[in-house]
Amino acid sequence: MTKTICGVNKQVNSIIYAMLLSLSLLIGYYFIDKIVATEIVRQNQSTFIDRDVNTEFVTASKSVYLGKSLFDGKCASCHLIFKNSTGPALMSLEERGPWSDRTELYNWIRNPAKFMSTNGYTKNLKKEFGSMMQAFPDLTNAEINAIVDYINASQSMRQVIY
Ligand code: HEC
Repeated sequence: MTKTICGVNKQVNSIIYAMLLSLSLLIGYYFIDKIVATEIVRQNQSTFIDRDVNTEFVTASKSVYLGKSLFDGKCASCHLIFKNSTGPALMSLEERGPWSDRTELYNWIRNPAKFMSTNGYTKNLKKEFGSMMQAFPDLTNAEINAIVDYINASQSMRQVIY
């Protein structure tokens, strides 16, 4: 009688041990999983923040933003990006005439009349468009770069949308 009870007790004991063991394994697994997951999130966040701080993207979009306000304020009265108006459409600017050379573009925008006196490409533009472009002697290199960034960004957006 006692033996049987003892036997039963032993069995019950080992079942309880087995259950406790698997429970502690489960709890252990749960915590390790949590720790690993938190670490992965932390790593991702820090790369995200690094990217956000150094990005050329942030600098580029600032330039595009500045370029838009300069373009709207100073160029849009005579130029559209995608259509000719008083002056030529400015899309794909760097693929025409001397404009792949940024220095040439700076010189043109600051003093079109002087530039035209020695440049056949712009002389022909004047024949085609009839009027003379206004000079912007005060625009800095960075501001002109920003205008070009804005034109190029508008073009990429259009390629994405259409
Ligand atoms: C008063 C009108 C007027 C304004 C304002 C003006 N432009 Fe022009 N632009 C022209 C005309 C007209 C031409 C064609 C050449 C000519 O006849 O002088 C031209 C030509 C150009 C060209 C050469 C285009 C090509 O197809 O090769 C560029 C680049 C240019 N303009 C940039 C600008 C920028 C950038 C601004 C603003 C900062 C600006 N223009 C403001 C009238 C203007």
